[in-house]
Amino acid sequence: MNRLVQRVIASTILVGGLMMGVSQADEPIVIKFSHVVADTTPKGQGAILFKKLAEERLPGKVKVEVYPNSSLYGDGQEMDALLVGDVHLLAPSLAKFEHYQKKIQLFDLPFLFDDMAALDRFQQSPAGQELLKSMEDKGITGLGYWHNGLKQLSANKALHVPRDARGLKFRVQNSAVLDEQFKALRANPRKMAFAEMYQGLQTGVVNGAENPYSNTYSQKIHEVQKYITESNHGALDYMLITNTDFWNGLPEDIRNELTAILAEVTVEVNNHANELNERDKQSIIDAGTTEIIYLTPEEREEWRKAVRPVWEKFQDQVTPELIQAALDANTP
Ligand code: LMR
Repeated sequence: MNRLVQRVIASTILVGGLMMGVSQADEPIVIKFSHVVADTTPKGQGAILFKKLAEERLPGKVKVEVYPNSSLYGDGQEMDALLVGDVHLLAPSLAKFEHYQKKIQLFDLPFLFDDMAALDRFQQSPAGQELLKSMEDKGITGLGYWHNGLKQLSANKALHVPRDARGLKFRVQNSAVLDEQFKALRANPRKMAFAEMYQGLQTGVVNGAENPYSNTYSQKIHEVQKYITESNHGALDYMLITNTDFWNGLPEDIRNELTAILAEVTVEVNNHANELNERDKQSIIDAGTTEIIYLTPEEREEWRKAVRPVWEKFQDQVTPELIQAALDANTP
């Protein structure tokens, strides 16, 4: 079935579903929020808070079902499920949008943002906000950015300088930028769904990965990785998205209330993400399974130089203007 036919069928199903939702006014509107991480992570906590507030403030009108840990849809399925209306809210990492909007690849260029505050400034800037609306022709509306945290490299070998990573196999998200990042280190990237990472590392299909501490700890990645290098080489952040037709088809009062709730939840998630990552870093240290390696400024500079050529590879797709806008956000 070609994509056009799929979309026509999907829209027909969706409109039918929406009309049912509207005509049966006494039935609550069911909002399914699917994601791939644990409840304890920033995204997991955000989804739970959204459910709580939505059901408290729109009693009987809205029912939110949260499906964590790839329990309903995993990587590779959740976007299609959103497009056909089987789920209504997702928060995929920004690395997972390249098939819908190439400019979003910006966020994964290594060592682009100095810290999470710079990333936040860019996301709130006009250029960052424009990206939220840039996929509406494809049926996807961005409702906000949720933070997780900076990524750290992990492996069963101590990684101090780029040459230590040579020849190792790293699990990467489904992202051309991240693929190139590891190729620049002369390592072997392997695209793998999030839910498969633990087993991939355990069985030696891959030897290393890159994750924020919250994902490492909640997926027990530290149990199968002897070293974590605190490289802070990029961020793992999310775009909270909905199906454009679903969202626009909601009764206005409900949509406005949900928008206000999401704004509140976004502030909560973004204020606490760092705290959750620090908590999970401490839990990894306490578990005693994994040595955390801290880089000297000189070593970090070596990593930065090694992966910097990735920017040139993607600058046409991302646009030099957007890269400049991101760099400007490094200055408060
Ligand atoms: C990953 O695949 O590593 C992340 O995108 C998972 C997530 O949602 O944090």
